Amino acid sequence: MALPFDQLDGVIWYDGHFVPWKDAKVHVLTHGLHYGSCVFEGQRAYGGVVFKQTEHHERLHNSAEILGFKLPYSVDELNRACEELLVRMGLVDAYVRPVAWRGSEMMGVSAQSNTIHVAIAAWQWPSYFKPEERARGIRLDIAEYRRPDPATAPSKSKAAGLYMICTISKHAAENKGYADALMWDYEGYVAEATGANVFFVQNGKLHTPLADRFLNGITRQTVLDLARRRGIEVIERRIKPEELSGFTECFLTGTAAEVTPVSEVGPYTFKPGEITLGLMNDYFAEVQPKRAAAE
Ligand SMILES: Cc1ncc(COP(=O)(O)O)c(C=O)c1O
Repeated sequence: MALPFDQLDGVIWYDGHFVPWKDAKVHVLTHGLHYGSCVFEGQRAYGGVVFKQTEHHERLHNSAEILGFKLPYSVDELNRACEELLVRMGLVDAYVRPVAWRGSEMMGVSAQSNTIHVAIAAWQWPSYFKPEERARGIRLDIAEYRRPDPATAPSKSKAAGLYMICTISKHAAENKGYADALMWDYEGYVAEATGANVFFVQNGKLHTPLADRFLNGITRQTVLDLARRRGIEVIERRIKPEELSGFTECFLTGTAAEVTPVSEVGPYTFKPGEITLGLMNDYFAEVQPKRAAAE
C-alpha cells in the first residue's frame, strides 16, 4: 500500500511560505471543506518546466473570482512559487496541485470575511491511466450524472464542488471494470469525462463538444491548435450520444490524462488510429520545455 498523500516527504508552499509536507494542514472548521468554497488546478511539469503555467494560474484566479473570492497572490507570484517548489522538491517530471480555499473566520453559508488560503504541492505522477490500458485505449462507462447547467452551477470554475459528481461517476465506472466515465451535459449531449475533455474522429475530421458549458481544458485548446497545424479539420459542436456509433476514433485530453486513446464508451467501440496517435506524439513534443527543443 502506497503512503497516503498527507504522509509524503518534502515541502509544500502554503500561504507564501514553504512548510514541511506533513505540517501543511487545515482545521476541520474550514469553510472550503464544509461548503465547497475551494478551487484548484492540475498542472504537469515536463523537464522541470510546468506546461502553460501562466494559463493555469490565470484559470485559478478566474475560478476563484467566479466563486466570489480573490486570491491574495498574483499569477507571477504563483508562477515563482511553483518554480521554487519544483527545485526544492528536486522534481523534474511532476504533477503540480495549487489549491485555494476560504478559511475559518465564519462558519455559515456566508463567508464574507474569511481569509483566502493558497497552497501548492508537487509530486511525481507518471500516467493517469494504467500504461498498458492506455496503449490499447481505455474503456469508458456512461455516467448517470450529467454535467450541470451553467444556470445551476458555476460550470466554468475549476471548483472542488463540481467534482463531487465526478468522483461518484468514476467510482461507479471503476466498480464495473471501466477506467472512467463519459458524462452527458444537462441537455443530454456528449460533454466530457470526469477529469478530461473528449474528441472523436470521423472521415479524417476531428469532432469535439462545444466547451461552453464545462471546462474548456488547456489541453483541449492545445490539441485543437495541434490538429489545425496538422491541417486536420476541427468541428466544435453539440454531439448526440447516438452519433458515437459513427465515429472511428476517440480520445481524452487533460493535463493528467494528456492525450489518451479510448477503445469503448458504453456500447460504442473505437480503435486508436492515425489521428489519435499523431496528436499524442504532437502533444508529447509540444509539452517539452522549449529550451530542450533548442539544444
Ligand atoms: C472536469 C474536467 N474537464 C476537463 C479537464 C481538462 O482540463 P485541462 O486540459 O486544463 O487539464 C479537467 C482537468 O483539469 C477536468 O477536471
